[in-house]
Amino acid sequence: MAEFTFVDLFCGIGGFHQAAIKFGGECVFACDIDESARAAYYANYGIMPEGDITKTNPVDIPHYDVLFAGFPCQPFSIMGNRLGFNDMRGTLFFNIITILKENQPKLFILENVKQLVGHNNGKTLRSILGALENLGYKTFHKVLNALDFGLPQKRERTIIVGFDNLNADFCFPAPQGRGSLDGILEKDVDAKHFVSDHISRKRMQAHKSAFSPGIWHENKSGHISSYPFSCALRAGASYNYLLVDGRRRLTPREMLRLQGFPDSFEIICTDSQTRKQAGNAVPVNMVSAVLKEALKELQRSSKTNGKLKQASL
Ligand SMILES: C[S@@+](CC[C@H](N)C(=O)[O-])C[C@H]1O[C@@H](n2cnc3c(N)ncnc32)[C@H](O)[C@@H]1O
Repeated sequence: MAEFTFVDLFCGIGGFHQAAIKFGGECVFACDIDESARAAYYANYGIMPEGDITKTNPVDIPHYDVLFAGFPCQPFSIMGNRLGFNDMRGTLFFNIITILKENQPKLFILENVKQLVGHNNGKTLRSILGALENLGYKTFHKVLNALDFGLPQKRERTIIVGFDNLNADFCFPAPQGRGSLDGILEKDVDAKHFVSDHISRKRMQAHKSAFSPGIWHENKSGHISSYPFSCALRAGASYNYLLVDGRRRLTPREMLRLQGFPDSFEIICTDSQTRKQAGNAVPVNMVSAVLKEALKELQRSSKTNGKLKQASL
């Protein structure tokens, strides 16, 4: 019997799902508009996600204990057009609100880009938190970095945790150290992942790295830097923006590893689909650490006020 049930909104390839199953979670509903992400989700978890969340009637979602949502970041991202709620995609947050309202789960964990915190002088985050608090949730938020959770990827994300209990007390997990690139990089890499001699030579002329292995990062203005970890993977980034030792792209498996997906995660999509999916995913290790602390708080509060409704955590 499951320890708790959950829904996985904007599920992608299931970064939250990977975290939840570590603690005995059972998924009862998932949705993502991207067809290849849905196919990958089904192949790996045996659940076919629904499509567009705006077409979902909250009444049709089965009862659940925990809601996860890594809602699309484009409206808030510095890479986007900074329109926030004026951008139609921004309103997807309101679908989360209507779904929460219908079932009022004990706990939710939301993920978005780091820039959400400062967007529109903090007003965007304040209205998000206000809407969640109006539903009766006590919320906690923090920017966490995947680098602090055993992954060699600098990926900072805003995490919002909410409890359906105004007495809830919650501390975000402390940094747990970085993983090494050696544990991520594949030994035998297909020639198709290597850049041309021309590109590689240009990189070598422009940059000398202090790290081997290292991930070379070229920013928009063409400046190259390198580190013993990866910069944030991005779904829509140009093809060569991250290169291992200036010579080759990351393989889809390496990108999944950088996000904490185990090698048991089956790759069924094309390289470019998998790169996009990995670039969109939430780092598994980071949200596992958050979920672990949140579940402890649920257990603590259920002991003190006997408030747990159905499934038991
Ligand atoms: C930031 S990603 C979340 C990734 C996910 N947390 C993971 O670990 O893979 C946002 C996801 O929202 C999906 N999406 C965008 N608009 C949507 C909509 N209207 N309905 C459902 N999913 C949508 C995208 O396809 C994308 O996979």
